[in-house]
Amino acid sequence: MLHLQSADLSKEKVETLVIPVCEDKEIHEDKVITGLIRRAKKIKTFKGEKDDELIFYSDEKVSADQIIFKGIGKAEKLDPEAFRALCGKAVQGLVKQKIKEVLFAVPSAKKCGLDPEALTTAMMEGAFLGNHVFDRYKKEKKERPVEKIEFLVKADLEKKLADLPRRIETICAGTVMAREWISMPSNHKTPDQFAHEIAKQAEETDLQVTVLDEKALEEKGFGALLAVGAGSLRPPRLVILDYAPKGAEKTIAIVGKGVTFDSGGLDIKSRDGMETMKSDMSGAAAVGAALITLSNLGPANLGLAKIGASDKRIIGILPLAENMPSGGAARPGDIICTYSGKTVEIGNTDAEGRLILADAIAYAVETYKPDALIDMATLTGACLMALGEKIAAVFSFEDELPQKILESADKTHERCWRMPLPEDYKELLKSEFADINNMPNSPWGGAITAALFLSEFVGETRWAHIDIAGPSYSKKKDAYAGPGGKGFGVRLLCDLMEQL
Ligand code: BES
Ligand code: ZN
Ligand code: ZN
Repeated sequence: MLHLQSADLSKEKVETLVIPVCEDKEIHEDKVITGLIRRAKKIKTFKGEKDDELIFYSDEKVSADQIIFKGIGKAEKLDPEAFRALCGKAVQGLVKQKIKEVLFAVPSAKKCGLDPEALTTAMMEGAFLGNHVFDRYKKEKKERPVEKIEFLVKADLEKKLADLPRRIETICAGTVMAREWISMPSNHKTPDQFAHEIAKQAEETDLQVTVLDEKALEEKGFGALLAVGAGSLRPPRLVILDYAPKGAEKTIAIVGKGVTFDSGGLDIKSRDGMETMKSDMSGAAAVGAALITLSNLGPANLGLAKIGASDKRIIGILPLAENMPSGGAARPGDIICTYSGKTVEIGNTDAEGRLILADAIAYAVETYKPDALIDMATLTGACLMALGEKIAAVFSFEDELPQKILESADKTHERCWRMPLPEDYKELLKSEFADINNMPNSPWGGAITAALFLSEFVGETRWAHIDIAGPSYSKKKDAYAGPGGKGFGVRLLCDLMEQL
């Protein structure tokens, strides 16, 4: 679907041509394009300011049904994200118009002060992701994704970046997979259905998939995961995705929270609080989709060896449960025995994410002895309060792992912010009757106390926790994502796995 091309614009016919235009600098090199921009800027209403748009429906020199000029703002604002957003919005517009093909004029990276690969990557990501429409439950499809998205570059770049389109397609298809899972309603993704769906998507890959059902979980002692699922008619599952390329030396475990619906349990949420809780499995969606993507990128397929993720074994661990109130549900005050052997007093049944993660983390540590463990979870409303809808929080006791996460976040614009993890706050998790309480005895610093709870189950393993309660889901659309699941974390984890 994504293609690079270096054809001569004055000879080729295109359906739609999109040209990014900078307000105060010429960023293109192609003579035909710069000529077009000169003409566009003669029109008074178009300056090239951010979100300015102008359309030519005919031109003497270029044969195109429409030429869309899109303003990107001042030269000082030119970063990859500006281009990602521009391409995303452009494609969203074309999807509404049911346009089949588009050609984006890629500016000169040098003139933008950017790296050519970073610039082209961002444009491809924005265009691919902006092309996704979640309409699987609509009979009448009002929008249609663009079929062919091309990028006009100079011939030398076309050669140099020849592998890029397939790579970006593979990675962004992972984001789209996660989005679809997150946006899917909970009646279509019970823990068992979701486990099957993940296994189905992993079928064509070289991942080894294991699904533990409630009997296996009981035998192995997953007391916390079972307690969270106890109120639901649909029992919990644990999905394990094992990516083990030959010769792997390190092992990384990634754990993702998979609460397929969080009603709060007996500590039931308010109507507003429950509204978006089908998305409480966004961590599992991101981890599952990232593993499937990494495998698709693998040495046999896309030469990941060259990039560096093939020197490690990567294990995805996805605890899946539905948190519901019922006669069988866990009660506030219940004490459970977790996989690790530690006992937990359930001070609040709505703090269920940390419970299922506790079991999954302890299992990962014991079974795979990973060199590092990362967990990703829609864990706390407090995190959403602190950082808003676009930024995830990173917690760790060390500096190296979070630093790597922040670098990947920067590169992918899946933004993260490091938070403190003060050990003395652990006091807030004391229980009179058990080893630890899942409910802190203070209303403040909820994202921190949740992270500290998890830290009790990692042992000596290097560990970082990413709270994605904010950026995982929104009722609003963005520059390159529709309303609903955002697939946040897939691009971040894929990049991170290559860097670690
Ligand atoms: N799934 C929620 C956290 C959440 C809230 C994610 C809003 C996304 C948007 C989590 O299970 C939860 O309910 N946490 C409680 C913990 C509290 C009871 C200690 C919270 O944050 O209020
Ligand atoms: Zn909850
Ligand atoms: Zn939850």
